[in-house]
Amino acid sequence: MARRALITGITGQDGSYLAEHLLEQGYEVWGLARGQANPRVSRMRKLLSDVQVVRGDLLDQGSLISAVERVQPDEVYNLGAISFVPMSWEQAELTAEVTGMGVLRMLEAIRVCSGVSRGGSSASGQIRFYQASSSEMFGQVSETPQTERTAFHPRSPYGVAKAYGHFLTQNYRESYGMFAVSGILFNHESPRRGAEFVTRKVSLGVARIKLGLATELRLGNLEARRDWGFAGDYVKAMHLMLQAANPEDYVIGTGRMKSVRELVEAAFAAAGLDWERYVVTDQTLHRPAEVDLLCADPKKARAQLGWEPSVSFDELVAMMVESDLRLLSDGADPDDDSWP
Ligand code: NAP
Ligand code: GDD
Repeated sequence: MARRALITGITGQDGSYLAEHLLEQGYEVWGLARGQANPRVSRMRKLLSDVQVVRGDLLDQGSLISAVERVQPDEVYNLGAISFVPMSWEQAELTAEVTGMGVLRMLEAIRVCSGVSRGGSSASGQIRFYQASSSEMFGQVSETPQTERTAFHPRSPYGVAKAYGHFLTQNYRESYGMFAVSGILFNHESPRRGAEFVTRKVSLGVARIKLGLATELRLGNLEARRDWGFAGDYVKAMHLMLQAANPEDYVIGTGRMKSVRELVEAAFAAAGLDWERYVVTDQTLHRPAEVDLLCADPKKARAQLGWEPSVSFDELVAMMVESDLRLLSDGADPDDDSWP
């Protein structure tokens, strides 16, 4: 019998790569999709025709219980979230509900459907649970690089909500003996990245300028530094975490940091352009509280999971710029939110 996986956040960047990876591994893949006429569901179906859709919303406990009952998954990957950090200041309560409380609702759905009670359950027959934790939880970092033991100091309502989900996942593991793990993932990008995140904003901006569709690119803080990797590599780590003998949390990143300025230089250079002629900095794009730098120490994942990133920063930037040049040259309108 094929193993069965349920993915929340199936219409997002990571949901698509994870679904592809699990289908390749022979899984039966189900995606939880919300909304009555969500246009991102039909976009997802075009790319991932083998994924089955079950309706549900992280805001609605009953819908999650129904989804788990219907799918009877072996593994649940909770990727659904309000994931754009600036939005979390504008809609802090919604972020807490979806990104934070959504984790509680998903864990409760699994607990109720599998009849787990206090004192724990036997490991066999358990639904294994993956929580999409984030390096944003480190926020104002207390040490560099960051490991599984680095203290959290989140700097946004998003980071705070992720920290809640992270501790709750640990707590359900300790309270009920559930196989529940968190991947503390650093920034990961791809041609499928949402256009609001800085890497994609830059690759789309470069492509527009190169094709004569725009004359400038407005950005916020160019000095922030991130540890950027390729999303296709990171979803493999999620899967490996649920195949491990014991439920444990892992930091996933490349261990290399680049600034937004270096990202911009690399992206414009990939299209043969000089960034200083086109980039305009805009104070209104700065954040109320910035995370200045993030850099992973992924030693534990390498040692225990055998996980390694395969795409370098320069390769990632070139991949995204080339993809957006193709997309715009083909006349696609990224505002219609189509994946390349
Ligand atoms: P993404 O592209 O923004 O996707 C977010 C997903 O969440 C979408 O499928 C969205 O569905 C879904 N969602 C939003 N509200 C929901 C609700 N109320 N109920 C159910 N689903 C809902 O994010 P991503 O980049 O793939 O990231 C996946 C997860 O990893 C997120 O939890 C993110 O916070 C976390 N993470 C990402 C990174 C990164 O660098 N990408 C790093 C660390 C952690 P709709 O289409 O219906 O809006
Ligand atoms: N989005 C955006 N737009 N960011 C900009 C801009 C801009 O115009 N100009 C500068 N930046 C800077 C931000 O201030 C931030 O320091 C950095 O670029 C990265 O911003 P994002 O790409 O929006 O990502 P993020 O680091 O805030 O969050 C992403 O990674 C987290 C993991 O560390 C998201 O995917 C989160 O969901 C994820 O948890």
